[in-house]
This record gives sequence, structure tokens and C-alpha cells, in this order.
Amino acid sequence: MQIIRTVGALRAIVRAWRAAGESVALVPTMGALHAGHMALVAAARLRADHVVASIFVNPTQFGPNEDLVAYPRREAADAAMLDAGGVDVLWAPDVAAMYPEGYASNLSVAGVSEGLCGAARPGHFDGVATVVAKLLNQVQPDVALFGEKDWQQLAVIRRMVADMDFAVEIVGVPTQREDDGLALSSRNAYLDDEQRAAARAMPRALGEAAAAIARGDDVAGVLAAAERRLIDAGFASVDYVALSDAESLVPVGVVGDRPMRLLAAARLGTTRLIDNVPVVVG
Ligand code: PAF
Repeated sequence: MQIIRTVGALRAIVRAWRAAGESVALVPTMGALHAGHMALVAAARLRADHVVASIFVNPTQFGPNEDLVAYPRREAADAAMLDAGGVDVLWAPDVAAMYPEGYASNLSVAGVSEGLCGAARPGHFDGVATVVAKLLNQVQPDVALFGEKDWQQLAVIRRMVADMDFAVEIVGVPTQREDDGLALSSRNAYLDDEQRAAARAMPRALGEAAAAIARGDDVAGVLAAAERRLIDAGFASVDYVALSDAESLVPVGVVGDRPMRLLAAARLGTTRLIDNVPVVVG
């Protein structure tokens, strides 16, 4: 696996693959890799001749009081995992390569960015949309893969790619979970033992709420009960438990025909956990 740090070197490699008629998949990450990321890599390998994984802790998607400085950075261990997973190129630009002196552009995706995590983290999805657009332009992949754990991020990226006419297929890969159901996340490393034990309430509350909605229980009552369940389990606060249209993320009050997603964000101490599940009726 080659580790590349300049756009020019990256483009030369991709150009050579293209000249040979070979396809390219991109797996964008912020590092601190776990089995969830490696599932993206495995799915990428099935879809293209070559896999580029990026590691870039993107400062523009962190708010002023968020964990940009503390965010785990361990490139050597991540590179070893990616290499073992069959990645061809690790694209690892530094901040100056991604946002050179004078950088002034920003992409904002209205609507789908605005509620849920977008309400709690102003500017976060502008940062995500902008850096993903840059990564897509830099690598020019045929396909790019993202985890469904970040469902709103996936919806924002799908909207942005459609709106900007990027010639890339966006693939969502199902959430990877611990044995007790907790969604894998780089931020799980922040949890102490007590918080880790409490965290399993998140997938359980979502699973039970999704089943209750599917069997026809009142949506508002189910969402309120799920919030209470998280607080009873030891979560300090709940940002939201919401039933949304799976694509637009518009809130759903009454179950209809369109695909739905049940999403939650809540804090254990200072760690903010998110998760989501489909709601399948009938
Ligand atoms: O999901 C992530 O790791 C990041 O938000 C992404 C998509 C790599 C953009 O920085």
C-alpha cells in the first residue's frame, strides 16, 4: 500500500489505473479505524479494481467546543489495518494540502442538513459536504462507501452528489455492532466502563421503538418512551429520538408508505453517541 500526501501524486496513480481501464473505490475516513471501517474496505474491494482509503481529520466539521484536538490519531496502526485489508493507496493529506492558504469555499446542503445532528452541531454538515466533495474531486472514484451509522451524513452526501452531478455511486454499508448491539464508533473509546455498560441501552431502545412503531403504536408516545429509557439507563441528555423519512429526513408523525428511519443522539458524560435503525411496517 502506498501512502500519498499530495494531490498531484494521487492523481498520477489514479490516472495510470484509468489508462489501464481499471475502476476505483474510495473509502473516506477520519482514521481511528475499527471493524466498521474495515467493512467499508471489504465492500469497496468487491466493487472496484482498486481501493483508495483516505484519512483526514477534517477540522471544518468540528464545532468550537468539540473534540478536534482530542480526536484519536494513530496513522501507523490505521495504515497497517488498511494494508492488511487490501487497500491500494492511503490518501493522507495534511490540513495545508486540503485547505491551502487562501482557501475560501464552502458547500452547504439545505434541508437534509438542518435537523437532527445538524441542529445540535451547526456547520457540521457543511464541513462534511465540503470535504467529501473535495475528496471525490481528488480521487475521482467510480464508487464511494460510507457507513449507515452516520445516516444523516449519508443522506447529506447523497443529496450533494446528486445536486453537484458527481459521476460517482454512493454506497451505504450497514452499521457494524458489538455483541451487545452498540454501534461501532471511534468515539466509543471515550466511554468508561460504567458508560460503556449504559451505552447498550441505545440500540435496545431503538430496536424496541422501531418494533412498536411497526406494530402501529402512537409515534409520539413511542419516541417519548425511548427518550425516557435512555435517561433511565444513565444517559445525561438526549439530543433527539426521531422518526424521519429515510431520504429527506423530514419528520414522520404518522406512518406512511415511504421508507423510514428511526434515529437517536444522546450523551453519556461528554460523549455524544448516535445510532439509527430502519422501521419496517408489515
Ligand atoms: O464519517 C467520517 O469519518 C467523516 O465525516 C468523513 C465522511 C470522512 C468526512 O470527513
